[in-house]
Amino acid sequence: MKTIISVKEMQQWSLQQKAAGKQISFVPTMGFLHAGHLSLLEEGRNQGDLLVLSIFVNPTQFGVGEDFEDYPRDLKADAELAAKAGVDVIFAPPATQMYPQGYASWVDVEGITEVLCGASRPGHFRGVTTVVSKLFNIVQPDIAFFGNKDFQQLTVIKRMVIDLNMPLEIVGLPIVREADNLAMSSRNSYLSAPERFQALCLSRALAHARQLAAQGGVKASEVLNAVREMITAKDLTRIDYLKICHQSSLLDQEFIDADSVLLLAVYVGKTRLIDNGFLLD
Ligand code: PAJ
Repeated sequence: MKTIISVKEMQQWSLQQKAAGKQISFVPTMGFLHAGHLSLLEEGRNQGDLLVLSIFVNPTQFGVGEDFEDYPRDLKADAELAAKAGVDVIFAPPATQMYPQGYASWVDVEGITEVLCGASRPGHFRGVTTVVSKLFNIVQPDIAFFGNKDFQQLTVIKRMVIDLNMPLEIVGLPIVREADNLAMSSRNSYLSAPERFQALCLSRALAHARQLAAQGGVKASEVLNAVREMITAKDLTRIDYLKICHQSSLLDQEFIDADSVLLLAVYVGKTRLIDNGFLLD
């Protein structure tokens, strides 16, 4: 396994491999790898000839007062996990290479970036779509893997790839959860023991919502009310948003159907957690 920090060297490596007819699988991350990231790497290993993992805590997707400085980093542990997962190249550029002096170009997807996390975190998706476009240009993947955990991010990236005619396939993979169903996240490391316990209300709320939806004929507002009650019953939680949306337009739905996704963002203490799931099978 190679670690490359130079943008130029990464791009040259990829162009050479592609000229030799190799298919490149790519998993972009901000590091501090957990089993969710590893599931993407496993699928990436199964498809394509070569597997590239990027580790870059992207400053432009963090807002003022967010956790850019505190975001957990452990490149050594990540490299060990990556080697075990069969990664061929870790691309871990410094921010000065990704955003050198004079940097002035941005990729912006409209509409679907203005709701949900986009409404709570202005500018976040502009940072994500810009860095992901740059990473695609540098790594030149044939196929890139993203988690359903960040459902809106995946939807936005699929839209961007279609709209900008980017020549690669985007694959979305299921949310990997802890044994007690908390969705895995690098940010779970911020939770104290009582917060970690109360954080279970997110996945429990999702399960309850699915039960209600399965009864048929329930309105989205009824499900949302039930879920809101479950979450507000916990004293360490504060709801950022709670929505039932159409899976591709991300518009609010009044009635539940096979395209309905429940999306939630909840502060548990100071940590903002997200989770989501389809309401009907
Ligand atoms: P990061 O939060 O490190 O996540 C990297 C990838 O892992 C994303 O596609 C995310 O959806 C996926 N992932 C995270 N937790 C998961 C889980 N529990 N189960 C399955 N997949 C999971 O998302 C980002 O980084 C950044 O925004 C990035 C796309 C790298 C751009 O900077």
